[in-house]
Amino acid sequence: MCERHLAVFTVVAVTLAFVSCSSARLAPDFIHPCNNTESTCLIQATQDAIPDFARGLPLLGVPALDPFVIDELPIQLPGVKVTFLDGKVTGLRKCQVLNVQAYLENNIFVLEIKCNITIKGKYTAVGRLLLFPINGEGDSKIKIVNSVIKLNIKTMYFKDAEGRDHFGIKNYKYTFDYGDRVHYTINNLFKGNPELSNTVLQFLNENWRVVTEEFGQPVVDYAMNVTIETAKKFFSAVPYDELLHVPIPKY
Ligand SMILES: *[C@@H]1O[C@H](CO)[C@@H](O)[C@H](O)[C@H]1NC(C)=O
Ligand SMILES: *[C@@H]1O[C@H](CO)[C@@H](O)[C@H](O)[C@H]1NC(C)=O
Ligand SMILES: *[C@@H]1O[C@H](CO)[C@@H](O)[C@H](O)[C@H]1NC(C)=O
Repeated sequence: MCERHLAVFTVVAVTLAFVSCSSARLAPDFIHPCNNTESTCLIQATQDAIPDFARGLPLLGVPALDPFVIDELPIQLPGVKVTFLDGKVTGLRKCQVLNVQAYLENNIFVLEIKCNITIKGKYTAVGRLLLFPINGEGDSKIKIVNSVIKLNIKTMYFKDAEGRDHFGIKNYKYTFDYGDRVHYTINNLFKGNPELSNTVLQFLNENWRVVTEEFGQPVVDYAMNVTIETAKKFFSAVPYDELLHVPIPKY
């Protein structure tokens, strides 16, 4: 009698465990799936997701984007080799979503965001800058105000080992507008010469747009790649039907 009860109980327990397991949502609570692909909904859903997404989702193997760490990033400029070390990028969690468009049939996803980004870290700079020999080493901070990033992603769909559909990223293009202002705070550009260091820093700030266009590209390329790699991890972890409540196109 008792054994029989136990057997029934076990069957029920196993069934319940199976049911609750197979219907467990992988998407975190901050994901609010849209029921259509209208921009208003996609913009809101993306805005809702950014702050928590940027903090990282360790349970899903998705690393943090804010703060996001740059251990070492060499940048070769004409005449100067700059290396960023122990860098920390912050601000992405506060980005404002300007536009989102999804064309599911055509595999196109467009995202436009406005962000204030701060990059802090150590640097070394060796070479020549504005005719002066430079051999600097110290702390640097770069503040980018109201930059606008437009990301154009070519998506794809794929099935995981359990046969569930996922979004994938095939490739991407982007434009990065440095926005209203870039502030540079860099100390010790010329070792032992604080006057020249300050004069050159002032020049960099007065000519921030030209300066940033010259040296910003490798940094932005790097940051974009990290962001896309992070999004790929997220899309691999969370199935399509938990992100968007719109039937997936045939693929
Ligand atoms: C989608 O539809 C469901 C069910 O009608 C609703 O609960 C949910 O709020 C809708 N999602 C959005 C983002 O409007
Ligand atoms: C960026 O900072 C500026 C000045 O502090 C502020 O006016 C603006 O709203 C911020 N932009 C975003 C996208 O947070
Ligand atoms: C992007 O990042 C991935 C993984 O970190 C790396 O393997 C790849 O080489 C990077 N691609 C570019 C273009 O930097």
